[in-house]
Amino acid sequence: MTNCTDVCGTACETTAPAETKTPGFTRRSLLRTAAIGLAALGMSSVASTAMAASKKITVCKTTAIKVGGANIFNPKGGVPVLITHPKAGVFRAFSPYCTHQQVPLAGISGTNLVCNQHGASFNTDTGKVTGGPAPTGLPKYTVTVSGTSVIVTF
Ligand code: FES
Repeated sequence: MTNCTDVCGTACETTAPAETKTPGFTRRSLLRTAAIGLAALGMSSVASTAMAASKKITVCKTTAIKVGGANIFNPKGGVPVLITHPKAGVFRAFSPYCTHQQVPLAGISGTNLVCNQHGASFNTDTGKVTGGPAPTGLPKYTVTVSGTSVIVTF
């Protein structure tokens, strides 16, 4: 409470205004409800974006890569992808760009994918770095095989 005699010349007392309440809702519950709603909207937006961005594309036939081999493909509707065939019936898909300076990988040596720019190498099965100067392994894509089709989820 404050006295305003010195301000307006009348003797009155003021008090803090009482909190306005909506029946059934407090300010706190309204804010909590709004936050939950916004979070739900944000989550659904992210989920729908991820689902829209994810697509499966048949990249090649299983016979297109011999066991122990690899090849780079540029599928229609996708992005360039490097498919390896490290063991019979096992296919892997990676970004075909070296993680050192984003140069396309040049070849394969044993179980390593090789970058000719500065000599980095990556395991054909895992994409992990087996020789520097690449700082990280190759980004991976999910691969499924259906019949004789190698399908990559982008
Ligand atoms: S760009 Fe591949 S090792 Fe440098």
